Amino acid sequence: MPTELLRFKEIVDRRLDELVPPGRGPSEAARHVLLAPGKRLRAILTMVATEEAGGDPDLSLDAACAIEMVHTASLIIDDLPAMDDAQMRRGRTTPHILFGADVAILAGIGLLNGAFGALADCATLTSEQKVAISSRLATAVGWQGLIGGQALDLASTHGQGALEEIHDGKTGVLFEAAVISGAIAAGREKDLATAYRLFARSVGRAYQAFDDILDRVADESIAGKSTGRDAGKLTAVTAEAEEIDQALAGAARHLQAAKEALPTRPDAPSRLGSLADTILRLFEAKFRHAGMAPAMS
Ligand code: IPE
Ligand code: IPE
Ligand code: MG
Ligand code: MG
Ligand code: MG
Repeated sequence: MPTELLRFKEIVDRRLDELVPPGRGPSEAARHVLLAPGKRLRAILTMVATEEAGGDPDLSLDAACAIEMVHTASLIIDDLPAMDDAQMRRGRTTPHILFGADVAILAGIGLLNGAFGALADCATLTSEQKVAISSRLATAVGWQGLIGGQALDLASTHGQGALEEIHDGKTGVLFEAAVISGAIAAGREKDLATAYRLFARSVGRAYQAFDDILDRVADESIAGKSTGRDAGKLTAVTAEAEEIDQALAGAARHLQAAKEALPTRPDAPSRLGSLADTILRLFEAKFRHAGMAPAMS
């Protein structure tokens, strides 16, 4: 990851540690996953979007952390026995195994609640900005967002749902909330929303397609999480007639569409566009590690 993005990642890691203080039971389970090595991609998207829109990225730090907390909550819930029944997350044993499903559920709810609390208490945004970001985040969690997408993902084992609807719901909407929140923090939502929304949706589709491929080709030591959990589901791999190369090409097309959606800058390359390239390289490295030699770019 480029140094500038690593700097954002470190700031986010430190702030998350402050926002969810050490405790016992649900908060210990929440920190077990939250502070494990995640990529912090959604938080980085928020801060880069603020910077790209001409604002100080520190303004959106707490919003970025709130989004990361929502994301971690979704992972804890996704890994439960009633969902994907996964044993490993971010290189660690999943919390329902270590602490019990009851505590893991409370940890997930606690992180969701903590996200909106962190936003309400944030000292760097105006009240108006906090309300706007909370609204976007609530939509992202909502019936057409993570909750709806997760339900469709699970129902896809019975042949229901369409791939892009699943990917937009379980992944794209949170990417959208991340990038739009960054624009809100910079006071630029009005003029940038359309381009940023298109960018985020396309990145989300590419990202989830890469993740679907990872589930198929990598083991847990490479992915840092349980893999092979998508058996029987509609994913980018199964939707592309089981051809991993076709799924890869589809993801690369989504990334290209994402970059093309961004406003062109006369002075420098778009930072969000560079972040899309970083995502591509990140997955390329994982696929190589898993023994694939993908032609993705
Ligand atoms: C995993 O997200 C779930 C998906 C939507 C693909 P990430 O791959 O961003 O997971 P972390 O945050 O780095 O652990
Ligand atoms: C990710 O779905 C979407 C979530 C909201 C958790 P996955 O089930 O594909 O995520 P991983 O592969 O377990 O990280
Ligand atoms: Mg899942
Ligand atoms: Mg899963
Ligand atoms: Mg997956």
